Amino acid sequence: MDGLTFRQADRADVLELAELFTKRKSKERVSRMINRFEQEPDGWYVAEQNGKILGCCQAVFPRPKDCWLQWMRIAPKAQGSGIGGAFTDYVDQQVKELGAEVVRLNTLPSNGRVHAMMGGARGYTEWARWTRWSHLPRKPAAQLTRLRAVSHTVDVSRVLHWLGGQVGYRASFEAVTCPHDFRKTVSLDRALLQELLGKRRRGGCVIAERHGQIEAVALYAVRTQELRVLQLVASTTAGGLAAAAGAVREAKPVERVSIQLAGASDELVRAIQRSFTGRNRRKHQFYVFGKHL
Ligand SMILES: CC(C)(COP(=O)(O)OP(=O)(O)OC[C@H]1O[C@@H](n2cnc3c(N)ncnc32)[C@H](O)[C@@H]1OP(=O)(O)O)[C@@H](O)C(=O)NCCC(=O)NCCS
Repeated sequence: MDGLTFRQADRADVLELAELFTKRKSKERVSRMINRFEQEPDGWYVAEQNGKILGCCQAVFPRPKDCWLQWMRIAPKAQGSGIGGAFTDYVDQQVKELGAEVVRLNTLPSNGRVHAMMGGARGYTEWARWTRWSHLPRKPAAQLTRLRAVSHTVDVSRVLHWLGGQVGYRASFEAVTCPHDFRKTVSLDRALLQELLGKRRRGGCVIAERHGQIEAVALYAVRTQELRVLQLVASTTAGGLAAAAGAVREAKPVERVSIQLAGASDELVRAIQRSFTGRNRRKHQFYVFGKHL
């Protein structure tokens, strides 16, 4: 790693940045990268060796103390030689100086290098797990909704109180995916819950209850044929399934569904997967790693 340095990127780097992401230097891909850089020019960092850019990453702050890393990439020929790890340590330090208290990064479960790099000594832990299905079953878990009453409740205090008691999910309430911009996180507070309860066309909140007791809450948003369950919080597996299926029913018609299963029990994760897969193809999951600095 002789001569390896790290620094902030600037406009003059944009062509080299584009090359990191495209094998064929098609004009279209390069101009897409330039547009991306110009739309969001802040927070880009590069790893450089002997004047050649070998890696990059962008750190964005959806909220002042909450940092997300994206566009993390080391040039294929340089991968596996320790550059990514050292670069991550540098970026961590930079964002800490900018006030980040939490740093997060999305990845697929199959991305072994990222898991090794973040999940090991660097101290990142799994913060959320999304499961996504591209094709819906014709009647998703229809019979399961009958096991629990699914309702829209207007009693925001009751729902918030219940959510607050679900200790395992606490951290994720504090940063729920924003219903209007899926790249951002927002706090799950009274205002957001009220908004989800009120505006059902863009999103909503489904409660699964049994004998008057809340068993699960699914907060969801709908965008271009995709239903995103922003947060599924369940105290029972059957309740969780009912709330997820209820959200799908409420949000019809959609072609894709993704569910954030942060902190869900393994049993619920398996049950959701069984219930939503069937003859579906192209199912994938991704993880969000987070680290408190
Ligand atoms: C992921 C990526 C940024 C890592 O950078 P890198 O320079 O290749 O990584 P490093 O050589 O520093 O290795 C990182 C860790 O992975 C481990 N590792 C290396 N090769 C590995 C492999 N084939 N399988 C599993 N782990 C591996 C190393 O032991 C190292 O752990 P350590 O830092 O605790 O020693 C880089 O490989 C890359 O750009 N990949 C393609 C794009 C991508 O996946 N981006 C991330 C999107 S979230």
